[in-house]
Amino acid sequence: MKKILIVFGTRPEAIKMSPLVKEFLVNSQHFDTKVCVTAQHREMLDQVLNFFEVKPDYDLNLMKPGQNLFELTSDVIKGMKKILEEFKPDFVFVHGDTTTSTSAALAAFYAGSKVCHVEAGLRTFNKKSPFPEEMNRQITGRLADFHFAPTSTSIKNLLSEGVDEKTIYEVGNSVIDALLWAKEKLSSYEDEEITFLKKMINFDKKIILVTGHRRENFGEGFLNICSALLEVAKRDEVEIIYPVHLNPQVQQPVYDMLSKHPNIKLIKPLSYPAFVWLMNKSYIILTDSGGVQEEAPSLGKPVLVMRDTTERPEAVDAGTVKLVGTNKEYIVDQLNYLLNNEEVYYNMSKSNNPYGDGFTCSKIVSILKENG
Ligand code: UD1
Ligand code: UDP
Repeated sequence: MKKILIVFGTRPEAIKMSPLVKEFLVNSQHFDTKVCVTAQHREMLDQVLNFFEVKPDYDLNLMKPGQNLFELTSDVIKGMKKILEEFKPDFVFVHGDTTTSTSAALAAFYAGSKVCHVEAGLRTFNKKSPFPEEMNRQITGRLADFHFAPTSTSIKNLLSEGVDEKTIYEVGNSVIDALLWAKEKLSSYEDEEITFLKKMINFDKKIILVTGHRRENFGEGFLNICSALLEVAKRDEVEIIYPVHLNPQVQQPVYDMLSKHPNIKLIKPLSYPAFVWLMNKSYIILTDSGGVQEEAPSLGKPVLVMRDTTERPEAVDAGTVKLVGTNKEYIVDQLNYLLNNEEVYYNMSKSNNPYGDGFTCSKIVSILKENG
C-alpha cells in the first residue's frame, strides 16, 4: 500500500487540501494517508480544520507572532525531517506557493519521497510579485514529480519551463471542491458567526467585502488601500465589511486608520463557511487574495484585485476580475465606476467558473491509483 503524506500550514492551503484529505481517506484500501500541519497559521488554520473535520496526525505548531521567512523556512525543513524519517511516505503532497509548501517539498525531496504539487503552474513570471509566492511556486515546480495544474494556462506555463508533459495533469482547482462542500453544508445549517453577521450588517446597503494580506502591499500599499476605503465609505448607500487578516503588519494600519468610521466594520477573520456566506451577500469584493479571486467568479461577484499582477488570469479574461493595484485614486475611481453603472456592474457579475467542476480531488486520487 502506498504511503501518502499531505502537508499544509496556512488557511488557504487548508481550504484547498482538506477535500483531498477526505478523498484519500475514503480510499484507505489503496493508500495509507497521514496529514501533517506545520501550523504556519494557527487560529486561521484551526478554523478550517474544524469546519472540514480534518484531524492532523502531525502538528509542528510552528507559528510565532510576526514570524520571518528565514526562521519559518528552516523550522519547516527541520520539523519535517523527523516525520519523513518516521512515516517514510512514498508521496508528499504540497499545495500552491507558501513557505510551508516549498520548504516541505524540499524536505520531501531530501528524504527521497516523490513530490506532488497541487495547484501547479500558476505564474506571474515576476519574482517580486507576489512576494515570495512567485519564487516559492517556481521552486516547488522544479522539485515536483507530479504537477496537478488547474487550467490550460498553468499547463502552458509549466511546459514553457521545460517540465515533462507526462508529469503534468489538468485537474481543475480544488478550491471549487471546497466551495461546493461549503455551499452544501450551508444549505442545512447556520453557524454562530453567520447569526452575528446577520445582526451586525445592514444588508439594505451595498456591501463591499474587503480582504488583504500581501507582503508586497505592506507599508505604503496598505495606507493607500485604507485611504481609498475611507473615501468610498463617504457614500451612504455603502457598507464596508473587512475581516482583517491576523498578520500584525496588516492589523496595525487597518485598525489605526479605519476603526472609527461608521460605514466600515472591521471584524476578525471569518470561518470559511461564514466567509462564503458573506461573499454571496456582497455587492463587490475588493481583495488581494488568490483564493478569493477563484471563488468569487463562480458566485457571480465582481472582484477588484488590489495587485499589479495576477497568476490567475482566467477570471480577468472572463471579465469578472479586474486588477486595480494599490493607487488610492484608482481604487476609488474603480469602485465608484462599479457603484454608479448598473450595466458595467451587471456585466462583471455574470457567474463563470474557469477553475474546475468540483472533482479535482477525485481526479488526483485516480491519477495516483493509476500511476503511483
Ligand atoms: C501566508 C503566506 C501567503 C498566503 C497567506 C494566506 C507565506 C510566505 N505567506 O502569509 O502566501 O497567501 O498566508 O493567508 O507563506 N497570524 C496569526 N494567526 C494566524 C495566522 C497568522 O496570529 O492564524 C499572524 C502571526 O503574527 C504570523 C503572521 O500573522 O507571524 C504572519 O503569518 P505568515 O503565515 O508568515 O504570513 P501571511 O501574511 O499570513
Ligand atoms: N477566507 C476565510 N475567512 C476570511 C477571509 C478569507 O475563510 O475571513 C477564505 C477565502 O474564502 C479563501 C481563502 O480564505 O478560500 C483565501 O485565503 P487568503 O486570502 O488568506 O490567502 P490566499 O488565497 O491569498 O493565499
